[in-house]
Amino acid sequence: MQDETIRILVRRAMDMLSMSYVPYSHFHVGAALLTKSGKVYGGCNIENKAYSPTICAERTAIFKAVSEGETEFQAICIVGGPDGIVADHCPPCGVCRQVMSEFCEPDTFLIILARTEEDYKVYTLREMLPFRFDLI
Ligand code: THU
Repeated sequence: MQDETIRILVRRAMDMLSMSYVPYSHFHVGAALLTKSGKVYGGCNIENKAYSPTICAERTAIFKAVSEGETEFQAICIVGGPDGIVADHCPPCGVCRQVMSEFCEPDTFLIILARTEEDYKVYTLREMLPFRFDLI
């Protein structure tokens, strides 16, 4: 993936931080999901008083895309931090990794964990989720 594409995804994920609804944790997460068709879907985390209905930024982005008919993805960029200040990389939770595995190819789908447009790490889905749950 080209550096410029990654920078576009990092900027979009950073922009999403301001949309996070996080009155309980104050931990903002932003995501930018790139489809194979070249569209970018943003996502933020949205919390709830009852806690378990909370949805992560990654799943917000994926479900927005799937609900619009997009089911083929190239990459997702994730940023996050307390009060929206991104001081470190923010890896996806296990539930989000499993949801990614529903739609994304393990060896080609890229998970980009960014601190800034220049400071990011790139992993394949297989690296992040070596043994996914499957119906066999
Ligand atoms: N969160 C995400 O948005 N993505 C993850 O992969 C892990 C956690 C959110 C959920 C909650 O709103 C906050 O971070 C603290 O757990």
